[in-house]
Amino acid sequence: MELRAGKVAVVTGAASGIGFALAERFARSGLSVVLADIEQDALAAAEQKILAHGVETLAVPTDVSDEAAVQALARTAVERFGSVHVVCNNAGVVSNADPWLGPLSAWRWVLGVNLWGVIHGIRAFMPVLALQGEGHIVNTASMAGLLPGFSPSYDATKHAVVAISEDLYRAMKLAGLPVGVSVLCPGWVRTSILEAGRNWPSGLGDVPPPAPTAEVTSRYVERVIDEGMAPAAVADLVAEAIAAERFWVFTDQEMMSIAARRWEGIAAGQNPPLGMDVPGLPTEEIAAEVRRFLAGA
Ligand SMILES: NC(=O)c1ccc[n+]([C@@H]2O[C@H](COP(=O)([O-])OP(=O)(O)OC[C@H]3O[C@@H](n4cnc5c(N)ncnc54)[C@H](O)[C@@H]3O)[C@@H](O)[C@H]2O)c1
Repeated sequence: MELRAGKVAVVTGAASGIGFALAERFARSGLSVVLADIEQDALAAAEQKILAHGVETLAVPTDVSDEAAVQALARTAVERFGSVHVVCNNAGVVSNADPWLGPLSAWRWVLGVNLWGVIHGIRAFMPVLALQGEGHIVNTASMAGLLPGFSPSYDATKHAVVAISEDLYRAMKLAGLPVGVSVLCPGWVRTSILEAGRNWPSGLGDVPPPAPTAEVTSRYVERVIDEGMAPAAVADLVAEAIAAERFWVFTDQEMMSIAARRWEGIAAGQNPPLGMDVPGLPTEEIAAEVRRFLAGA
């Protein structure tokens, strides 16, 4: 689909990181932009920056884990602009709580935003795009959707988003519906994702404490995120994929090769490798440091 003035894009998680970069990329192509996010101050600041591109902009405070809120977002966007052409289901969070021994609320939060958020977005917007005869849905997954080993709840949601996106792509094509689908699977990107706890919902009780080993592992992950790709470069790849009607959007060829090796191991019936050997995350070094840390605790 051609990205140009007269089209309308909706982006969730638009106040920061990849979502904001997507909103800016669409604004630069002249699209009207609807920004949705749970973080109200950051959303208002993002709205001002997108307005400065001279395009029509609408900010809608939205919690994507809430079905009614996402349905309201779709209604508000259509009421204001008459149509919606691009939908980026992008909002996402990660928890550093202990997945096996910590509170279940951390799982509920991550599944609520990363998985239910995407489901709600598809169900609210796909009928609008299909009826109007044109549209493209971009779901933000992650390389964690093809390669487990980051964080169990995060990995689970991102695998699900990849699967749902493939199913949606197939369903749209088989039904002859004019809705394109892409799934974004970035490697490390320089964003505020590691401060996701800033949006912990009070309705889920107290913020879960970090896993005891998070003190060690977070240092490594912080470094790779700090050295990650610029969000604007990710947004350019998404824009190219929409224009080319391409399903997969990858940003990190090295991680793709590791994911491909994982599948070779699966096909050969091998047990899972103990480490992913992702650049910047030396598994054995981290494991040794975690063991030393736990022994000293
Ligand atoms: N940064 C990375 O290395 C990386 C890699 C792969 C995938 N991703 C994915 O990219 C997406 C964007 O994350 P980011 O890295 O830009 O992080 P970010 O924290 O900079 O942006 C996430 C945005 O989502 C918003 N958000 C959080 N909970 C929400 C909710 N319930 N409803 C609506 N909005 C909510 C936040 O306020 C924030 O603006 C996520 O889906 C993330 O999993 C990030």
